[in-house]
Amino acid sequence: MILVTGGAGFIGSNFVLDWLATCDEPVVNLDLLTYAGNLANLASLKGDARHLFVHGDIADAKLLKRLLEQNRPRAVIHFAAESHVDRSIHGPEAFVQTNVVGTQRLLEAVKQYWQALDGVAASAFRFLHVSTDEVYGSLDKNAPAFTETHPYEPNSPYSASKAASDHLVRAYHHTYGLPTLTTNCSNNYGPYHFPEKLIPLCIHNALKGKPLPIYGDGQQIRDWLYVSDHCSAIRRVLEAGTTGQTYNVGGWNEKANLDVVRTLCATLDELQPRADGQAYSRQITFVSDRPGHDRRYAIDAGKLERELGWRPAETFETGIRKTVRWYLDHADWVENVTSGTYRTWIDQQYGK
Ligand code: NAD
Ligand code: DAU
Repeated sequence: MILVTGGAGFIGSNFVLDWLATCDEPVVNLDLLTYAGNLANLASLKGDARHLFVHGDIADAKLLKRLLEQNRPRAVIHFAAESHVDRSIHGPEAFVQTNVVGTQRLLEAVKQYWQALDGVAASAFRFLHVSTDEVYGSLDKNAPAFTETHPYEPNSPYSASKAASDHLVRAYHHTYGLPTLTTNCSNNYGPYHFPEKLIPLCIHNALKGKPLPIYGDGQQIRDWLYVSDHCSAIRRVLEAGTTGQTYNVGGWNEKANLDVVRTLCATLDELQPRADGQAYSRQITFVSDRPGHDRRYAIDAGKLERELGWRPAETFETGIRKTVRWYLDHADWVENVTSGTYRTWIDQQYGK
């Protein structure tokens, strides 16, 4: 079996659902259920004996020891993190606690478990750390895309905490020989994406008749990947990646934020036109920029393609269409996650 951390969040839940749709290997899913974790994402697995959910913290060393010894996974896939850049600007400490301290506690527990495995099991064991392209910092307009050897230049508390976690993973491989793999992926989008991030926030706001907030001039560039393509890349790296290596994951889809939001608006105009017949793009509103806002990210996924034969299945156009369709078809999911504390965050970030 495999142990997944953060499997009730956006990417983690997509990973667990895709995993169990493609094989029968059981998953132990450890998640603290922060504001970003949601068991409703996993509702289709209710009663499925292949999925064991455990409510807990990756920083809880005793719990980790027990979970590892009882379940004896052949691999750990580590998604759990605080993941939103804007929240890291308002409150960095939670990011250090989970992304740095939590990752170190997890590595330590996994190291002790792995060191006690017999030779065959120990050499087959893998710790896969899911990380981000934001650790590389910001690119100039015409600079080549990030490769795995690009220097680390994290600019936000979020990316700094992820960079620290990457370094800890590297150190546990280098010092103790733990068989680690790290993936650094670009911006994901798709089902179960919490509506604090640009794409789901704008779909949600558009349908509610609210402003679509564009930070600064909207010309910041992100490189978008449909979430199931990220999941297939992780499966491939787990299966065939070389331990100690890092692999960039991306979809070759660089887009300016304003263009992304215009594409969302055009897709909504077609799939669910506004009652008054006006274009959703009328709701686009320019707001204050994010402090320290990175101008451009772009991933060179050539190593993953050349060495492991991975390619994304979706283009930006097909992925965005599927995503908008999913949000239209899952209004109840959106309604549930946007009640309660979600409103407090939105008021704090965008003003009442
Ligand atoms: P998310 O915020 O949607 O989910 C994070 C999950 O981790 C939640 O279920 C939360 O409850 C859980 N969690 C948080 N703290 C925990 C703790 N201390 N112990 C156990 N569980 C805890 O995040 P996401 O967007 O799904 O990102 C998953 C991972 O992928 C993160 O490590 C993130 O850095 C990385 N990543 C995200 C993107 C992206 O575009 N979203 C891109 C590249 C990499
Ligand atoms: O690059 C990978 C990263 O992508 C992940 O590591 C992070 O976990 C994930 O949150 C994401 O970070 P971003 O900051 O790029 O994503 P976000 O959706 O918050 O913002 C995307 C872009 O849109 C960014 O340039 C900021 C801008 N933006 C965002 C929001 C929420 C706006 O213009 N308005 C907004 O309201």
